[in-house]
Amino acid sequence: MESSEVKQRIDQLSTIINHHNYRYHVLDSPEISDAEYDELLRELRQLEKDNPQFLSPDSPTQRVGAEPVEAFGVVEHPQPLLSLGNAFSEGELTAWYTRTSRLAGSRQFDMVCEHKMDGLAVSLTYIDGRLVTGATRGDGYRGENITQNLRTVRSIPLSISGDIPSRFEVRGEVFMPKAGFRKLNRERESENLPLFANPRNAAAGSVRQLDPRIAAARPLDIFIYALGYAEGKTMPDNHWDTLAYLESIGFKVNPNNVLLKSIDEVETYYHQQVENREDLPYEADGVVIKVNSFELQQSLGYVAHEPRWAVAYKFPAVRGTTLLKEIRISVGRTGTMNPVAVLEPVKVGGVTISNAALHNEDDIRRKDIREGDRVYIQRAGDVIPEVLGPTPDSRENPQRHDEFKLLAKLDKDVQGQPLCPECSSTVIKPKDEVMYYCSNAACPAQARQRIRLFTSRGAMDIRGIGESQSATLFEEGLVRNVADLYTLKDKREKLLQLEGMGEKSVENLLEAVESSKDRPLPRLISGLGIRHVGGTVASLLAANFRDLTELAEATVEELTEIPALGPKIAESIRDFFSREENLDIIRRLKDAGVRMTAEETPRESMPLIGQEFVITGKLESSSRPEAEEKIRILGGTAKSSVTRKTTYLVVGEDPGASKLTQAEKWGTQKITEEELLRLLEGKGIENG
Ligand code: IVH
Repeated sequence: MESSEVKQRIDQLSTIINHHNYRYHVLDSPEISDAEYDELLRELRQLEKDNPQFLSPDSPTQRVGAEPVEAFGVVEHPQPLLSLGNAFSEGELTAWYTRTSRLAGSRQFDMVCEHKMDGLAVSLTYIDGRLVTGATRGDGYRGENITQNLRTVRSIPLSISGDIPSRFEVRGEVFMPKAGFRKLNRERESENLPLFANPRNAAAGSVRQLDPRIAAARPLDIFIYALGYAEGKTMPDNHWDTLAYLESIGFKVNPNNVLLKSIDEVETYYHQQVENREDLPYEADGVVIKVNSFELQQSLGYVAHEPRWAVAYKFPAVRGTTLLKEIRISVGRTGTMNPVAVLEPVKVGGVTISNAALHNEDDIRRKDIREGDRVYIQRAGDVIPEVLGPTPDSRENPQRHDEFKLLAKLDKDVQGQPLCPECSSTVIKPKDEVMYYCSNAACPAQARQRIRLFTSRGAMDIRGIGESQSATLFEEGLVRNVADLYTLKDKREKLLQLEGMGEKSVENLLEAVESSKDRPLPRLISGLGIRHVGGTVASLLAANFRDLTELAEATVEELTEIPALGPKIAESIRDFFSREENLDIIRRLKDAGVRMTAEETPRESMPLIGQEFVITGKLESSSRPEAEEKIRILGGTAKSSVTRKTTYLVVGEDPGASKLTQAEKWGTQKITEEELLRLLEGKGIENG
């Protein structure tokens, strides 16, 4: 090729690749496959390598991350980056609106509502269409020069053409989408690296690395939410049109933004966003409400560093920080030594939290959680609150406590053997397990928790016997194991003597016990507390054995014949049914009239029977083998190629072209990962 031809081809490839970058990263709507994209990039890279004189710093190949820098330079913001006032309640929002209306002289005004992104604010300066500086907000007046890192964010254009201001600055929020965050943490977990406590920290940690290759490898994204200044071209006179303009020249603007006319509409929008919050692909912690007209913005002005023309109406917190006072050991149902966080009580999303789960010693160390730290805690829906990790200032505290050691929490016998806090039996740690166990099968803590599990909602659902009632019944000697529950009707007098138990409550309790006798078999199995047997495995076992006594006699070989049932689970089941005390309990349950057989049709627990699945591309919620296992557990089959028998083709990220073609050919129904998850939950594909 002639030198001029090479140059031409390089320019052409750059244009094409920039276009596809934009389709993929800004519009979320790619026109070509990843493989085709990679091919273009490969060609460009080769040409640039052979002809380095034509390598431009704006080339799409230059996003991979340049050489590390010694330290970030300082960037003065020509116009300060301000912060926002907050509203935490409807009352505070109304107060903001009333004041704004008054200052607006009763002129009616429109408002733009945007999500308050939980990332970090950056400013991007473009001169003659080229990105020259990317900076953090810093103190608002001076930030750090992180241009090299921001250049690696694919949704930030490196160059812009067309009718644009000769020099301008845009502002926005760099963030890490939830999916990318989860993936990143999964990878870090497998590499034994400390996990990020939340997407915000992960995003901030990524762009504040001196080595840009780190940011390049992280799934970062951006939404532009403001124009800082612009020279050489007249800009729209309001915020909404400005965002539309920025979007039209190639910036990524949040598609969830809306233009609203009244405070009632704002409130409705806010409540919808609170509802949808969990489903958003990114984390947001509120709605920012901005007066649309720039003229009105100007006349409203600022107080301190906050504009009067905008307010952040925060979502109720689901994450909070509090003091981790102590890590206590509580003995679980299977005798596990469970570390529990004792917290300074804190309100999170309207619920006061004083305890939270910590999974195990390894996990605590990996997250670097220590007693005395301020920690992030998170509550999602009904699940048990969780400690995510220490806040950055805890990590930097010079007087920080030592690393958590579970054994240090346990008393020891004369030989130095650790002892169970409940029954003082020896504590053991099986090889290849992360948990420590109490070696005493009759440990009262285990017995209590087994009763609790049996009565719980997912198992036999005996209302009125919760955590504290299980403990009381056990301690009073009324129920020593789950079979004793069905003898309570002969112990009325004793029940009546218990604190807080009147005629009525005893009646209700006995009735609840009675009606639990007819629960479906999977519920009974999962209520027995067999190690590694939860609801899903229980359904699988019920579908295969149909009768608890049959299951009790199954050999490890028979058990492992069930697809999706590994040797570890099989051994554990075998172990459970080889213990005389367990067989005795089962005999007594049977004599009491508890149902031991599965319903006639297995369909209830095997909703996917007769359905054949093929998965293509990467899934976000689990690996492909994991998803296939779940399908099999529910009675479906999972295959690797699409045939006329395939019921569904599950299309993940970056799907294979041949499977898609085959699906077209056979008219196979294509479903998304989300739809697959719905099927796995026993729901239909359509919403509802
Ligand atoms: S506008 C004067 N819009 O909130 C208004 N900010 O407290 C300046 N933020 O540092 C910001 N999402 O990091 C604006 N849609 C949004 C935002 C947003 C998140 C952050 C931004 C800023 C902080 C202000």
